[in-house]
Amino acid sequence: MQNRTTTQSFGVSKREGHDSSSFYGRKLYSATVRGKESETINQAPTHVLDRIFAHSSENMSELPDNSVALMVTSPPYNVGKDYDLDLTLEEYLNLLERILKETQRVLLPGGRIAFNVANVGRKPYIPLNSLVAEMASRLGLLMRGEIIWVKGKGASGSCAWGSWMSAGNPTLRDLHEYILIFCKGRFDRTQKGKSTIGRDEFMRATTSVWDIAPESARRVGHPAPFPVALVERLVHLYTFEGDVVLDPFMGSGSSAIAAKKLGRHFVGYEINPEYIEISFDRLNQVTPQIVPQDRQSVA
Ligand SMILES: C[S@@+](CC[C@H](N)C(=O)[O-])C[C@H]1O[C@@H](n2cnc3c(N)ncnc32)[C@H](O)[C@@H]1O
Repeated sequence: MQNRTTTQSFGVSKREGHDSSSFYGRKLYSATVRGKESETINQAPTHVLDRIFAHSSENMSELPDNSVALMVTSPPYNVGKDYDLDLTLEEYLNLLERILKETQRVLLPGGRIAFNVANVGRKPYIPLNSLVAEMASRLGLLMRGEIIWVKGKGASGSCAWGSWMSAGNPTLRDLHEYILIFCKGRFDRTQKGKSTIGRDEFMRATTSVWDIAPESARRVGHPAPFPVALVERLVHLYTFEGDVVLDPFMGSGSSAIAAKKLGRHFVGYEINPEYIEISFDRLNQVTPQIVPQDRQSVA
């Protein structure tokens, strides 16, 4: 039998069958807060599957506890887009916290969250990635990593460099956003299922820097759509076929499209009915057979 590697001062060349218990036994990990572990698994009722509910995701009472495999979302950033309210930082974080708590309720044991967020402003810079990571950890969600989503050099035509070629007041222009990964209660899923990710995509998806071009807001008709390819990678990596993917800020339906393309179900929440219409129009183009005929959403 091959000897297991262990954590050592100078690292190890291979980490197959790696025994990391001495690393996780260190005091560094003694204060980690874990959410309440539960082995209960519930099925989301079929009548809520592949639906977008037209109300705030602060209340997701259509979904039972412990029923969702992956929450993938991009929240409003509270920066003045069409759909943004003008909230103080405290009010904004409270909104995100209410939705994270509700998400925590509906996630399966070992269910995952992929939370897209950008840092905002420059005077000073507001590190939403840190604030959300701290909030989720305080709620007992377990952080698994942080993906740097590089949107490409062309993504920022921004001239907001501060003082041009001068040390007077130069400012950084972000070419990236973050996708924060958390899970509920435990690291692995309690049930097994069929994974759909291929070798090359698995190798790409398990690195922490993803180069994926942004989607055109004009083309989609929404101010901040996800590229479907980004959600597809998350769905492939973190869910089994037939799982439920939740987007509490569904916008133009990109998460729904990715879920259906890959043989998963979606459940969404979106407060703007026009965006729900856009979602179903887009879904209809990609997978006409699954769009509910009545396009019904619940107010
Ligand atoms: C950044 S956009 C999401 C874009 C989406 N990822 C896509 O691909 O189109 C955030 C969306 O959340 C919606 N929204 C804002 N507050 C909400 C709430 N409390 N509950 C549900 N949706 C909300 C906004 O109308 C907006 O469409």
